[in-house]
Amino acid sequence: MGRYANAAVLVGAVFRGVFAQGNSTRVECPSASSFAPISAGKFFDALNPGWNLGNTLDAVETEGSWNNPPVVGGTFDDVKKSGYKSIRLPVTWAYHFTFQSPDWTVDAKWLQRVEDVVDMILSRGLYALVNVHHDSWIWADLTKADTNVTMVEEKMYKLWYQIGTKLACKSSMLAMETINEIPGTTPEHGDTINRLNNIFLQAINDAGGFNPQRVVTLVGAGEDGLKTTQWFKRPDAKFKNPWGIQYHYYSPYDFIFSAWGKTTWGSDADKASMESDIAMVRGNFTDVPLVIGEWAASAVATETSARWRYFDHFIRTAAKYNTSTVLWDNGADFLNRATHLWRDPIAQDIYKNAVKEIPNALPESTTDGSSTQQSSAYLYHKKGTNFTDVTLPFKFAGNTLNKNIVLSSSNKPLNQGRDYTVSGESITFKPSLLASIFTPTSSTGSLANLTLSFNRGASLSVNMLQYSVPDLSTTSSQLPAVSSDLLIPITWSGQNRPATIKAVKSDGTFLVDEWTQYLPELQQGRLTYGNHWDWTSEGVVLKAAALDAVRQAQGIEFVVFTVEFYPRERGNAVNYTLTV
Ligand SMILES: *[C@@H]1O[C@H](CO)[C@@H](O)[C@H](O)[C@H]1NC(C)=O
Ligand SMILES: *[C@@H]1O[C@H](CO)[C@@H](O)[C@H](O)[C@H]1NC(C)=O
Ligand SMILES: *[C@@H]1O[C@H](CO)[C@@H](O)[C@H](O)[C@H]1NC(C)=O
Ligand SMILES: *[C@@H]1O[C@H](CO)[C@@H](O)[C@H](O)[C@H]1NC(C)=O
Ligand SMILES: *[C@@H]1O[C@H](CO)[C@@H](O)[C@H](O)[C@H]1NC(C)=O
Ligand SMILES: *[C@@H]1O[C@H](CO)[C@@H](O)[C@H](O)[C@H]1NC(C)=O
Ligand SMILES: *[C@@H]1O[C@H](CO)[C@@H](O)[C@H](O)[C@H]1NC(C)=O
Repeated sequence: MGRYANAAVLVGAVFRGVFAQGNSTRVECPSASSFAPISAGKFFDALNPGWNLGNTLDAVETEGSWNNPPVVGGTFDDVKKSGYKSIRLPVTWAYHFTFQSPDWTVDAKWLQRVEDVVDMILSRGLYALVNVHHDSWIWADLTKADTNVTMVEEKMYKLWYQIGTKLACKSSMLAMETINEIPGTTPEHGDTINRLNNIFLQAINDAGGFNPQRVVTLVGAGEDGLKTTQWFKRPDAKFKNPWGIQYHYYSPYDFIFSAWGKTTWGSDADKASMESDIAMVRGNFTDVPLVIGEWAASAVATETSARWRYFDHFIRTAAKYNTSTVLWDNGADFLNRATHLWRDPIAQDIYKNAVKEIPNALPESTTDGSSTQQSSAYLYHKKGTNFTDVTLPFKFAGNTLNKNIVLSSSNKPLNQGRDYTVSGESITFKPSLLASIFTPTSSTGSLANLTLSFNRGASLSVNMLQYSVPDLSTTSSQLPAVSSDLLIPITWSGQNRPATIKAVKSDGTFLVDEWTQYLPELQQGRLTYGNHWDWTSEGVVLKAAALDAVRQAQGIEFVVFTVEFYPRERGNAVNYTLTV
């Protein structure tokens, strides 16, 4: 309590300074508008599950600058139809100020655009959560020596006063979030962030309208769970806004960001650390509504069965600790806004069932990284090899497998007995079925999907995928003189992407992260997706950072890049040598 009083004194001092220059005109909402007060607890329950309109109004410098065109209402229809209850609307304001200090006037057109998008969301009966987004690292990075904290406070007040004024009369289905992932690494930064939460509250309260009763989500440093437990302080009691805490969850780093060959997830240790992270935040804030406002396991970059298990377990763990969740979607990972299709509809189905605490059957897959990686999300067949019984294990979670497994291309039910047999929680697919799909003339790639449905929970699919080890047209080249990305052309012949890439120098040591020698076999010496490698329909891209590492390596003749494919089994890889 003592510390709490201290914080209030500090906050008061700041506000007096800010107020001296402030515009304290208060919005009076028209009598026709109405506001049904809602507690933060009810709001957080009601927004679950939510979806982030990522890389859109938060794009730097403006909407359309990144991978998504300006949002249209139909996107929110798609999201709502898929069962989401809310939209988090990240907005970057940094490049929309028309006057600098001390007014920080926001371009009226940008404020209007934000209001229009908020209206698109609210008019569809979805809850909305608007924020100040990449401003966090652009002008509010507390870890930078040259950040003027007084200026950050001034800017936060002025900005939120204007946003608060513009959105003052929106219904109680609109909530506001102080700032996204504001960098902070010390208790002092934590104190500043507590002050910013209060400044934000002061600004929207000063703006008037319904804001004094509006739900807000307050934040700790980086919206990181641990730092929030360490430094977060409750807001000044003079504010009557219903409030809860928002934090983000992208863990474990290696699985979520495809680093160091971590293509598996779901060991007992993985599950225990997820649970302890989420329990820790709840344990510190037993009486505070909590929302994980961002989380994801990419439908494009993570292994399918590991991702499905992660979705299922993450949501159930969040629910166990009474924490709502909002999926981060950057526009490239989940909903394809142009086609209106979800890139991984099964993950969506798993999510929606888990939120309702309905058990989901899940494919089994390897979790330990010490051998080859098995995944029952796929029925892999190596082109040209003979057919044998293929047994795929599942975890039915108490659900009953419906009689007919359906071949999705033809909607044709398979024949239990002839095409497959079920024993316990394993399904064995017969050589005759395999031979009918993987014919001598069929190509490599996905040839069919089998749909497994259950008496409850998500349906699953088994992707019948034929593969061969690709041939490289060139297997070596000289390290380019200038720093740039390098495309290694590959004619894909299976999954059209690598699983991971290993890089070993001519002296036998790893190109980067020598410490990975202590990781399981499937992770040793592997690079990080995004930082070191990427892929396109044309092949694998070694990023400039990987080539720079080759350039910086001392006294070596070459580096061998082993591009590994799914399924991760010995020999399903190609080598590319860069000579120096
Ligand atoms: C104060 O804010 C209101 C609402 O944004 C605006 O209409 C008014 O012009 C502002 N007044 C001053 C003096 O800045
Ligand atoms: C979960 O928390 C909300 C507030 O966020 C509260 O209204 C609800 O009663 C809680 N539910 C359980 C099961 O504890
Ligand atoms: C920091 O920002 C405040 C508020 O805008 C300003 O008055 C002050 O001069 C700034 N300090 C420096 C060192 O720039
Ligand atoms: C509160 O958070 C700290 C980390 O800051 C953690 O060690 C502790 O276990 C948490 N408390 C509870 C009751 O969960
Ligand atoms: C594949 O089947 C053919 C015909 O039954 C047999 O001759 C051949 O040895 C088998 N190949 C392998 C690798 O088992
Ligand atoms: C099987 O499903 C996957 C994932 O949705 C899809 O990419 C693939 O094209 C499907 N295969 C066929 C033959 O439709
Ligand atoms: C790739 O090179 C490594 C030596 O760096 C070797 O052990 C491995 O067998 C090679 N793999 C392939 C697929 O040629």
